[in-house]
Amino acid sequence: MNSNPLNKSAIALNFSRAARHYDTWACAQADIAESLVRRLPATSFPRHIVDLGCGTGLLTARLLERFPFAELHGIDIAEGMIAVCRARWAGRSRLEFSTGDAEDACWSSLRTDLVACSCSAQWFCEPEDTLRLWAGTLQPGGRMACALLLRGSFPELEVAHRESTTRPFEALRLPDEDLVPPMMADVGLDVECRETGEIKVWYPSASEALHSFRRIGAVFTGQPGHQSLHADSLRRLLAAYGRFSDASGRAPVTYHMQYLIAERAR
Ligand SMILES: C[S@@+](CC[C@H](N)C(=O)[O-])C[C@H]1O[C@@H](n2cnc3c(N)ncnc32)[C@H](O)[C@@H]1O
Repeated sequence: MNSNPLNKSAIALNFSRAARHYDTWACAQADIAESLVRRLPATSFPRHIVDLGCGTGLLTARLLERFPFAELHGIDIAEGMIAVCRARWAGRSRLEFSTGDAEDACWSSLRTDLVACSCSAQWFCEPEDTLRLWAGTLQPGGRMACALLLRGSFPELEVAHRESTTRPFEALRLPDEDLVPPMMADVGLDVECRETGEIKVWYPSASEALHSFRRIGAVFTGQPGHQSLHADSLRRLLAAYGRFSDASGRAPVTYHMQYLIAERAR
C-alpha cells in the first residue's frame, strides 16, 4: 500500500451522499463487520474503542453488542456518515462520533484498547503512517482489528472493464495478503489472527451489481484523472459484466478479504 494520491474532499462528498441509503446496499460490509468482531479473542475486554472510517456504524453496532460497557469513538471523513451514526445512537452514553480524517496526527494523543477498521483502509492515502499513528494510541495489551480488501477483489468489474474499454482500470491500490502483517510487526504489534475470506454478493442484474458501488459511495468521481465512461463503453461494460451472471441473471460482486487482529506487547 504505497501512498495514494486520492482527493479526500471527493471521498467525503461521495460517501456523505450515499450515507442515507448505505445500509440497504452494504450487505457485504455488514457480513465483513460481523466476521471481524467474531475473530476477536474471548479474553478481550477493551474499555476505549475507536472505529476508523465508521461509516453508518455497521461495525460500531457489532462492537457495541460485544462490548456494551466500553466507550466507543467513531471517526469518519464523511459528515453524512457521522450524521447517520449520531441519529442512530442519539442520547446513548459512552459514544462519540467525529467527522475527521483518520490519517490526521491530531488523534495521536488518544489512548485506546481497541482500534477497529472495516472496509475503510483502502481509502487511506498513507496507510503505513496511519497504522503507525493508531498503533501508537494502543495501551499495552490493546488490539488492532482490521478487515482489509485484498488485491483481486471485484474481479468481475476488472475483467469487464478490460474487455470493454481501452482505458486502464482505475481501482484502489489494494494490498496483497503478505503486505500488512509485517507492517504491523514493524509498529510493535504481534499478529494473533491472520485469515482470508471471500464474500460474494449477488444482485438482480449486472446493472444493479455495478450500481451497488455508487450506492455505497465507493466511486472515483472527483479523483485525479478520473473520466466518466461514455455511453458506448458503459453498454459494453455491462454486457461484459453480464457474462458473470448465473442462470437467473443475477450478477456477483466478489470481495477478497483479510482479517487481521494484532496485539500491542504488554
Ligand atoms: C466502505 S465504507 C465502510 C464503512 C464502515 N466501516 C462499514 O464497514 O460499513 C468506507 C468509509 O471510510 C470512510 N473514510 C474514507 N477515508 C477516510 C479517512 N481518511 N478518514 C476517515 N474515514 C474515511 C468513508 O467516508 C466511508 O464511510
